[in-house]
Amino acid sequence: MKNRKKRLAILGSTGSIGQSTLDVVRRFRERYEVVGLAAGRNTGLLAEQISEFRPEIVAVKTESHARKLRKRLGRRKIRIVHGEDGYEMVAAARKADLVVSAITGIAGLKPTLAALKSGKDLALANKESMVVAGSLLRKLAARSGSQIIPVDSEHSGVFQCLAGRDRKFIRKVYLTASGGPFLRVPLEELAGKTRAEALKHPRWKMGRKVTIDSATMMNKGLELIEARWLFSLQPEQLGVLIHPQSIVHALVEFCDGSVLAQMSQTDMRIPIQYALSYPERWEAPLPSLDLTEIKSLEFYPVDEKRFPLFGLARKALAAGLSFPVVLNAANEVAVQAFLEGKIAYGEIFEVVNHCLGRHRPRALAGLEDILAVDRETRSQAQHYFRDLKGNKA
Ligand SMILES: NC(=O)c1ccc[n+]([C@@H]2O[C@H](COP(=O)([O-])OP(=O)(O)OC[C@H]3O[C@@H](n4cnc5c(N)ncnc54)[C@H](OP(=O)(O)O)[C@@H]3O)[C@@H](O)[C@H]2O)c1
Repeated sequence: MKNRKKRLAILGSTGSIGQSTLDVVRRFRERYEVVGLAAGRNTGLLAEQISEFRPEIVAVKTESHARKLRKRLGRRKIRIVHGEDGYEMVAAARKADLVVSAITGIAGLKPTLAALKSGKDLALANKESMVVAGSLLRKLAARSGSQIIPVDSEHSGVFQCLAGRDRKFIRKVYLTASGGPFLRVPLEELAGKTRAEALKHPRWKMGRKVTIDSATMMNKGLELIEARWLFSLQPEQLGVLIHPQSIVHALVEFCDGSVLAQMSQTDMRIPIQYALSYPERWEAPLPSLDLTEIKSLEFYPVDEKRFPLFGLARKALAAGLSFPVVLNAANEVAVQAFLEGKIAYGEIFEVVNHCLGRHRPRALAGLEDILAVDRETRSQAQHYFRDLKGNKA
């Protein structure tokens, strides 16, 4: 149908990506309609979003959050659902054309799968889904004809550099990383860095989990695995460059030595808007990129002594099988424990390293296998850091 508004379902609408997505929608009211929203616990912000965007269906984490939300909304007519089934309902909402997947962690996996199964196009921010179930996501998208459009700035950069180009000409793809808050901290001080220090990202304002992952550079490791599946690349075709200015987001080197780079201001609304407008481009109210003001763009290799979690992620990428699921699960548990003050910064590595070292790799036939490895790893990680604490007591 010509000129019909694009209908969106936004999973994780109360988060950093979710709120930036709604900012984009605000600027293009004539082009978008929000039909579904999903959040976790923040019923206050969700209620405001509902009043402003008037979706037909919303999901929250538990029945008690659903009751709270109902109370806040009074008599407004809206369907409120909760839990895993509720998230899947929003992801598969009949009217939605495009689902923005921006719940953090493996909690985003089932709704992401539900969106693809029901043939929705997917704007993917939830990288953890691609890390643990890349092959499954690709298969489902191929079967249902869904498009997967990356939201992560680096993957959006690669996607834009590759548009209309044959993959067989790619020699190497580089994702860039700012290096986070600890790029220049003396190595001997790293292990004791505090939560507040790790949450102070120099370039991007993001949710807590991805901010810690950026400090350790696990984020970039997860992104390499995400890129492997998004762009059908071999592990050895993927590299990372530290680029403190965060202006170049990705570079693609072709077999003739030509390199294309994608640049933009450091603002997530740019890749989010592109994922929503794709294949078109719409005006954004941002100043032009002034390279004469920035003057220099620096690039460095990653020091794996400083960022050992990145080293583990690279190994998991190369080893494949169930290793990426273990990497992700152990990291989620360890980061949560660090955020709760239960383990030290340096112990995030110890937990993930322990789980990967103990793991007996296997082929993953489908979702049940993935979830089984995820559960086993979480339990192993919990035990390990309890032992870690026990030994230190
Ligand atoms: N932020 C960025 O710039 C950025 C860039 C690229 C990719 N990403 C990826 O995008 C995803 C979201 O990141 P973010 O920075 O937006 O995170 P965030 O600010 O922490 O937001 C996370 C969203 O997911 C919801 N949520 C969290 N855990 C949940 C659970 N167990 N069940 C249901 N809902 C849950 C939260 O709900 P409540 O707050 O209501 O509880 C919130 O709406 C992550 O996978 C991240 O790696 C983020």
